[in-house]
Amino acid sequence: MCPLLLFALCLLVVRAVSHVGEEKKNQERLFLSSLGLSERPRPSGNQQTRRHVPSALWRMFRRSQNSQAQVSDPCTVSEYGVRGNIIRYVQDQGELVSGWSSCQACLEKQLFFNMSVLQPVELLSLAQLEIKFYWQPLISAELLRWPRALSMYLYKVIRPTLKGANPQANRRLVVSQSVWLQPEPTSITLDLTSLAEKWRRPGHNYGLVLELLPLGAHPEELLLFHPGNSLPVEPAFTLPVIQASLVAVSLNPHQCRSRQKRSTVHLPVTPSNVCKARTLYIDFKDVGWQDWIIAPQGYMANYCHGECPFPLSESLNGTNHAILQTLVHSLDPHSTPQPCCVPVRLSPISMLYYDNNDNVVLRHYQDMVVDECGCR
Ligand SMILES: *[C@@H]1O[C@H](CO)[C@@H](O)[C@H](O)[C@H]1NC(C)=O
Ligand SMILES: *[C@@H]1O[C@H](CO)[C@@H](O)[C@H](O)[C@H]1NC(C)=O
Repeated sequence: MCPLLLFALCLLVVRAVSHVGEEKKNQERLFLSSLGLSERPRPSGNQQTRRHVPSALWRMFRRSQNSQAQVSDPCTVSEYGVRGNIIRYVQDQGELVSGWSSCQACLEKQLFFNMSVLQPVELLSLAQLEIKFYWQPLISAELLRWPRALSMYLYKVIRPTLKGANPQANRRLVVSQSVWLQPEPTSITLDLTSLAEKWRRPGHNYGLVLELLPLGAHPEELLLFHPGNSLPVEPAFTLPVIQASLVAVSLNPHQCRSRQKRSTVHLPVTPSNVCKARTLYIDFKDVGWQDWIIAPQGYMANYCHGECPFPLSESLNGTNHAILQTLVHSLDPHSTPQPCCVPVRLSPISMLYYDNNDNVVLRHYQDMVVDECGCR
C-alpha cells in the first residue's frame, strides 16, 4: 500500500479513537453533574493513608441499604432529624499551634473546616462539631493519675490577626467546659449550624481556636503543656491527641423531589422482545471510579429495552398517547415510529465517597435504579 494512504488511514483511526475518548469524557461529565459533582473527585494519597470512614456514616449507609429504610424519605436524615440528602464529614485542617503565643502552659489548636466543599445550591441543615480527645502516655499508667481534668475553651475567630497584634482581641468565646483526658477518647459535640452558614460566604471563615488548660497545679502535670513540648522532652510526655470534624448535613433541592419507595421488584428473566426492564449491574471498577467511591462497589442499575407493539397491552404501562401512536404506527410504519420503552419508575441508592478535600461524604441519589418500564 502506498505510504501516504497508510498515513491517512492511521490518521483516520487516531481521529476515530480520540473521538470515542472525547465522547466518553462527555458522558462521564454528564453523569457526574447528575450526581451533583462538577468534576471527578481525585482524593489524594492511596487507600492506606486515607481517612477511615467514620463508623456513624457506615451505620447510616448500611441502614439505607437494608429493606427497613427503603420506605423512608431519602431527603431526610433521620439520624439527625433534619432535611438533607448529603452528609459530609468535613475534615479539620487547622494546625496545632506550637508557638504558645497567647496562653501560658496550655495547648492551643486551630480548627478550620473548608466549607466551600458545599455547592452554593445546597441548603445547610445542620453543622455539628465533634471533637475527640485522648492521651496515650508512654510510661505506665500507675505513674500518672487518671483521669485528668482539663479546661477547654473554644473560640471563634472573627477576623485575621496581623503580625504582632494580640490574637485575643479577634476571638469570641463559643463555649468553655471541663473535659477528661484519658487513654480512651472522650468527645464533645456542639451545634455550629449558624456559624458554619456564615463560613460559607467567601472570606468569612477564619475558623476556631481550641485551648486546653490543665486544672491541676502540679508542676509535673503542667510539664505536658510546657512551651516547646510539642516534641516530648522526656519519652513520658506526649501531647494529647485532638481530632475534630464537622458533620455537615445539607440538602440539594434539585435532587430531591417527591417521596419514592425503593422497590423490591425482582425483574422477570423470561426472554422476550417486548418492552421491559432488563438487569444491568454497573461495576464502578469498570468505569474506573473505584478510587473515590467507597461503597457500594457497584449496583443493579437495570435498563429498559424492547418493543411497544400493537395492540399495547395494559402491562406495558402505556399512556393514551402511546396507545394511539402504536395504532398509527401499525397502519403506516414508515410515517410514525413505535413509542419508546422508557423507565416509568425509578428508585434511589446511597453512595459513600471521598471528595477532593478527602472528606467522607454520604449522599442519597434519586432515580438511580430502573424498577419499571413503560411505552411512552
Ligand atoms: C477549600 O476547598 C476549595 C475547593 O476544594 C479549594 O479551592 C480552596 O483552596 C480550599 N481553601 C482552603 C483555605 O483550603
Ligand atoms: C407496568 O407496571 C406494573 C405495575 O404497576 C409492573 O408490574 C410491570 O412490570 C410494568 N411493566 C413494565 C413493562 O415494566
